[in-house]
Amino acid sequence: MTSAEKTKELYNQLRRLSCEELWEDEVQRFNAATERERADRVALVRAVGVVFSEQGSDAQKELVRPWLRALLNDPCEKIRRYAMAALPKIGAADGDEGELLALLQKETTGDREKKFLGESLEKIGGAATLREVSGLFARTEQKVKAAIARSEQPSTIRLDRELAQVSQLRIHLRGRAGLEFTVRAEVDEAILRRGKFRVISTRSGLVVLAPTAPFSLGDLFALRCFGTIGFVLGSGADVAEIITSPSSLRLFETFTEGSIRYRIEYIGKGHQRAAVRDVALRAFALCPKILNDSQQAPWMVEVRGDSVELRPRITPDPRFAYRQHDVPAASHPPLAACMARLAGPMEGEIVWDPFCGSGVELVERAMLGGVAELHGTDLSEEALGFAQANLTDAGLANIPAKFECCDFRAYSALRANSATLVISNPPMGRRVPIPNIRGLYQDLLEHSARVLKPGGRLIFPNPLKLDRIPKSLRLISSQLVDLGGFDCRLELYRKNSA
Ligand SMILES: C[S@@+](CC[C@H](N)C(=O)[O-])C[C@H]1O[C@@H](n2cnc3c(N)ncnc32)[C@H](O)[C@@H]1O
Repeated sequence: MTSAEKTKELYNQLRRLSCEELWEDEVQRFNAATERERADRVALVRAVGVVFSEQGSDAQKELVRPWLRALLNDPCEKIRRYAMAALPKIGAADGDEGELLALLQKETTGDREKKFLGESLEKIGGAATLREVSGLFARTEQKVKAAIARSEQPSTIRLDRELAQVSQLRIHLRGRAGLEFTVRAEVDEAILRRGKFRVISTRSGLVVLAPTAPFSLGDLFALRCFGTIGFVLGSGADVAEIITSPSSLRLFETFTEGSIRYRIEYIGKGHQRAAVRDVALRAFALCPKILNDSQQAPWMVEVRGDSVELRPRITPDPRFAYRQHDVPAASHPPLAACMARLAGPMEGEIVWDPFCGSGVELVERAMLGGVAELHGTDLSEEALGFAQANLTDAGLANIPAKFECCDFRAYSALRANSATLVISNPPMGRRVPIPNIRGLYQDLLEHSARVLKPGGRLIFPNPLKLDRIPKSLRLISSQLVDLGGFDCRLELYRKNSA
């Protein structure tokens, strides 16, 4: 076994011990050992950093801190390096930064050790580090700058500012595959009302737009059916050059309040840590005001093949901020918005969601206007409370709404031929098994056929092939939609006129 393998094996053993066992037995044994034995047991330093950061109380971390700090000056370089990596794990305290900087300035500190010191300072350094490393350690400088900017000047995305120069810009509205034509229909309607964009193409899960006039993010977030927005920054191998180009900078500067910070994600390619590090460093050299930051960054740079996109990260999504309360199987809000739009309006709409959960479909339908009454049923009292609260938070409390905790088959407030729309995302039985799921979907069709007025609609994702469709219901459309990892048909029925 090589020395590296032995260290790894020892680490795996020590990693399983408690803080008490590490401190009372292992650390004491390490302290009493010879220099050679200590070097062989260096894995203990790493284990202490990890175990105390994950399980240690504040008092336990303070107990171990002086030990780790003392090891920063150990005669053995390997032990010093391990201590440098372990110290930031238990969180920075007064004096830690100074200790690390003192080592950085020491003449005897070699380049390899300085690299490790730089990595530790990236995690806990502040203004003092910035003064020391500026122009010397670009990576540490950019990370510390980002951390200071994050804490002193938190950034937000501005929805109200207009981007003036729009020529050549492409905007990708992404959503669930199968819903692109609904997203497009909403865009077409918005263009008719306000202009500002034109549709370039529609592909599976993607609508490509080009702005035709100055626009704000608010113009885009007025649309409810897409999932995410990506501004196409460019294509090519040099991601750093693309994200620091004048047109990228205009996007960043127009739409960001505060420091410009971004994360990078190589879509479908895993972490790509080395590539991220390289891009971050080069981009910082090209434009020091654009900072790579893995925490709370307002922008995500998405590398999709050789295309680079910029996605605003706004949480909560302002379109669905009414969702203060959630159930575990809550619907994907853009899917609910698409369902409401696909159903289309009917005068004096009386809407029922038989499986309403937290009420996302009801809210999304009500947001389109023209609703006279809302009805929601669910087996969960808690979910119904959430639905009511969400409706209020969405500013829709003025619409008469009735929620009842019951099996949807037992709901009697809607008489035959009284509702105009049944909209629902029924349980699929994927997480919580549903006894006789076929019977449940069959009953949904029967009950909808009964309560709907002639001309009324039923819309729901149907995972089954049902053979008994009530005679009064006619299938208007059926489209295969990605429901988040599995495909399902989204079906729209209309009740025949009497
Ligand atoms: C997929 S979730 C609906 C989520 C909802 N659209 C939302 O966004 O929160 C399905 C819901 O159906 C409810 N449910 C299951 N069986 C039911 C039944 N027989 N009658 C009424 N509700 C039922 C569950 O409690 C669950 O809240």
